[in-house]
Amino acid sequence: MCGIIGYIGSEKASPILLRGLINLEYRGYDSAGMAILNSKGVECKKAAGKIEEIHKRLNFLDLEGDIGIAHNRWATHGEVNDINAHPHFDSTKTIAIVHNGIIENYRELKEKLSTHTFESETDSEVIAHLIEEELKRGLSFEEAFISTISQLEGNYAILAIKNGEEKILAARKGSPLVVGIADHGTFLSSDIPSFLEYTKKVVYLQDYDVVVATKNGVRIYNLSGNEVSRPVDTVEWDAEQIKKGGFEHYMLKEILEQSETIQRAIQQDESVVNRIADEIREAYGIFFVGCGSSYHACLTGSYLFSKIANTHVNVALASEFENYEHFLTENTLVFAISQSGETADVLEAVRAAKIRGSRVIGIVNKMGSSLTRESDEFLLMNAGPEICVLSTKTYTSQVALMALLAYALAGKYEDGVNRLQGLYMDIYNLTSRSMREHLRYLAEMLVNEEHIYLIGRGLQYATAMEGALKIKEVSYIHAEAFAGGELKHGPLALIEDGTPVMVFVARDNEKKVISNASEVKARGGFIIGVSADRHEVFDYWVKVPECEDLNPIAQIIPIQILAYQLAVLKGLDPDKPRNLAKSVTVI
Ligand code: G6P
Repeated sequence: MCGIIGYIGSEKASPILLRGLINLEYRGYDSAGMAILNSKGVECKKAAGKIEEIHKRLNFLDLEGDIGIAHNRWATHGEVNDINAHPHFDSTKTIAIVHNGIIENYRELKEKLSTHTFESETDSEVIAHLIEEELKRGLSFEEAFISTISQLEGNYAILAIKNGEEKILAARKGSPLVVGIADHGTFLSSDIPSFLEYTKKVVYLQDYDVVVATKNGVRIYNLSGNEVSRPVDTVEWDAEQIKKGGFEHYMLKEILEQSETIQRAIQQDESVVNRIADEIREAYGIFFVGCGSSYHACLTGSYLFSKIANTHVNVALASEFENYEHFLTENTLVFAISQSGETADVLEAVRAAKIRGSRVIGIVNKMGSSLTRESDEFLLMNAGPEICVLSTKTYTSQVALMALLAYALAGKYEDGVNRLQGLYMDIYNLTSRSMREHLRYLAEMLVNEEHIYLIGRGLQYATAMEGALKIKEVSYIHAEAFAGGELKHGPLALIEDGTPVMVFVARDNEKKVISNASEVKARGGFIIGVSADRHEVFDYWVKVPECEDLNPIAQIIPIQILAYQLAVLKGLDPDKPRNLAKSVTVI
């Protein structure tokens, strides 16, 4: 969801920014642009479309200069077109800005600027005009920038440059922004992979930080203009880790990493996990909150807590959490699950919980993300960067952490670690070439279907929901999950001759779900079983190991592969499904 990057240093900026934009593509975008400061002033190229196509047409590399800002847009205000693409300018065309987030009071601000003519329909353009207006009052560029920022309501990460000023100004509130410090210059970006090939040294900014980046380095101020100090961290990820590792798509690479990532997820400090288990015991009311795949991890977690630790938790979509907020007290424990740690709905839930004095524990992949800063405590998934828009390895890492917590709560931490470690070979086999070929064959059978249904019970119902999400988001085939017991309350009406229905079976509940599969088969359904044992009712069998409590990890992997194969067969790009973004930083 929008990516911004700025560079100031001794190197030519446009190639660095172009690479940065490409590295930020995974966040989802519909337009891109770049503005460079040079002796001619501020030069800009921008358009709607894919970065490669825009670059072919406009050639970003024509832009000479060693200071610049760039942006991948994901439309919120104003349609997708060349004019609405960032950067945006003031009326004198000397100030250029890029913005990620939403300026909620842009209409009122525009009214204040009634003499100005706005070119775009965006909320962002108002920022450049406000700076212009502040400069007219005789303020310096920095002062005008701070004064502008102080007038904004909403979320933002902003970069600004101005003709005649050898610097980039930046600010953040609510939207991610990090500083990268390389030998030859400074980066300001929404995310670390955009500059990781140049430096591993980063400074995580906090809300209301204002950055002045010059060729001599970086200074950070608060909105009162006082300098503040932020530590320089070193990121563990190397540039190789974020590349495709020889695979055609990140999605496949990330699916295959799961035998490793589960092992990394369980590298936790035992005393911390046990202490969190104590907090769960003492809490009065526990909520798991998340969006998308992270929500499905929450749902899986609730079944695991019930099954392994005899503990009830409430599960809520982060976007629906406000409906339950009145139940929150100082004794409530809220788990916020998010791979990015930047999902706006999740952060809003976290803030609501904190206002009511509830304790918030994050389960997150991105160190330094807003969730790591805003939660009282967090557990890191350690899954490494996930570039594909679809969550695969981060989903199973979330489930692994949920399981570990449930085992700790049941007083069986060691047992939990051993069981999760035992998944290594199972996952290795589930992602093997022969398994992928078997699933490719299934994908060929399903690729022209309009609907695929998935059923399961208990833990397998949560897996069916995540499986349906994977299939629909990457292959655009309508996929829907039902709890096995619900079939006769409606979904059976959808079954026709040959309708594909995937059935997730675990040994501890096979009787009931096999009888549900038979109900479907009797109406002509084509049954695809995902299970350790073959059952007569199956028309096609995807053999998975029986992993008991950890079935949700083993059983989702073939569906991730199937979804991937469906997308590839349909000629779609699995890493960047249409209309979706990796990190949804707007509500
Ligand atoms: C987006 C992504 C999903 C992800 C969801 C929640 O919609 O496309 O893959 O599950 O956001 O993201 P989070 O970072 O909070 O886990």
